[in-house]
Amino acid sequence: MKLARFSRLGFILAAAGSAVGLGNIWKFPYITGEYGGGAFVIVYLITVLLIGFSIMIAEMLIGYLGRRDTVSSFEELAPKHKNIWKFGGFQALAGLFIMIFYSVVIGWIFNYIVTSLTYLPASVKESQAVFTTMLHADFWTQLFYNTLSFGIITYVVHKGIKGGIEKLNFYLMPALMVILAGMFLYATTLGGFSKAVHFMFYPDFSKLTSQAFVVAVGHAFFTLSLGMGAIMTYAASLPKDANLVKSAFWVVFLDTTIAIVAGLMLFTFLYQYGSAPSQGPGLVFISLPAAFYQMGVLGNIFAVLFFVALAFAGLTSSVSLVEPMIQYFIDRFSWSRLKSSLAMGLFFWFLGIFAILSNIDGAKEYLTWGSKSFFDWVDYLTAAVMLPIGGLIMAVFVGFIIPESEVEKVMKPQLKWAYKPWYFSLRYITPLAMFVVMLSLMGVI
Ligand code: TRP
Repeated sequence: MKLARFSRLGFILAAAGSAVGLGNIWKFPYITGEYGGGAFVIVYLITVLLIGFSIMIAEMLIGYLGRRDTVSSFEELAPKHKNIWKFGGFQALAGLFIMIFYSVVIGWIFNYIVTSLTYLPASVKESQAVFTTMLHADFWTQLFYNTLSFGIITYVVHKGIKGGIEKLNFYLMPALMVILAGMFLYATTLGGFSKAVHFMFYPDFSKLTSQAFVVAVGHAFFTLSLGMGAIMTYAASLPKDANLVKSAFWVVFLDTTIAIVAGLMLFTFLYQYGSAPSQGPGLVFISLPAAFYQMGVLGNIFAVLFFVALAFAGLTSSVSLVEPMIQYFIDRFSWSRLKSSLAMGLFFWFLGIFAILSNIDGAKEYLTWGSKSFFDWVDYLTAAVMLPIGGLIMAVFVGFIIPESEVEKVMKPQLKWAYKPWYFSLRYITPLAMFVVMLSLMGVI
């Protein structure tokens, strides 16, 4: 099957749109808060630069050479053991799993856009009550907005790469950047800004537990959309003369910059308006609205703009999370795009109902295992387990399975002197880092 092609700018916007998501604006600040600030940020930045960047290039390369859905690309490029390696392509399932909670969170954001128009909570306590009421008691509101995000996402992907995904990113990404840049500039004029800088960049390594380390590495994959096949699937639609290294650079650069900018802005508002940086997933939903309240009407405007930006970031990522499996069913089973989009959409929408229920009083007791709800399990298993494994598979695949001559032919002219260090890192450093992550996960170290 022939794929519609991205334009070169369209590809960078779409890949950056995939990378810049809830992970940057919602998750990164709250895990930074949870795991102690500066030291965590440093581990994250180092992982992004040393490992993330090289896997990003590797993942693009598999798509660019394979030119098909993830499973077929793996098959095509592993001449000897295609039946084993094709399972690398099923990593794309991780995208559908992520969507189970991702779409629910986008639903919360829609809800907050609407309510912030006219209402902001007067204190953190009140804000906490609003959020927990929604989370623990309001099944129908969550279901309604989850259904809305399902509808939008499914509609866009059913329009295809050019008419749907590229177009969506073409409008939403610049809009997102303008909103964030404006709010960030305002934040730099406030007194809380220097405290935010201190919190994010002053490392206190005593806070760096091995769990913090695993979370930082897992998040580096998550935030760059790696290890699952999203970037690979987009790269399968790249024009032949595209430069993978330049594209990867822009994606990593935009993703990291936006995470840092969002974090600084958020912590500035929190410090400035004295609301405790409440820890955990409630950060942007609890502490932030209470801070905005103190700004009067400007606060309402800021709140709405912020949640709109967050929704944009979430939507452009979502389409990349479902597209790989959509592509798979189109390519391998000759499904129509509409049928494939609907089937994938219904999958995450349906399981999303259980993710919602796993936070609802009266139901959550049945959907909690260990200390985690179904919602938390999906989040944890995808970000900390599936994606690092996926990253490992891709590094090994490009490092050892695709014939070296083929890799060299494409990558050497683009990477020049950096080709050898890149190849070495893919072969040895990345697998080693992943190994450490696995050990740490199993509680061995
Ligand atoms: N990177 C996105 C974020 O930060 C999430 C995401 C989109 C993703 N596509 C992905 C994560 C593919 C892993 C793999 O929110």
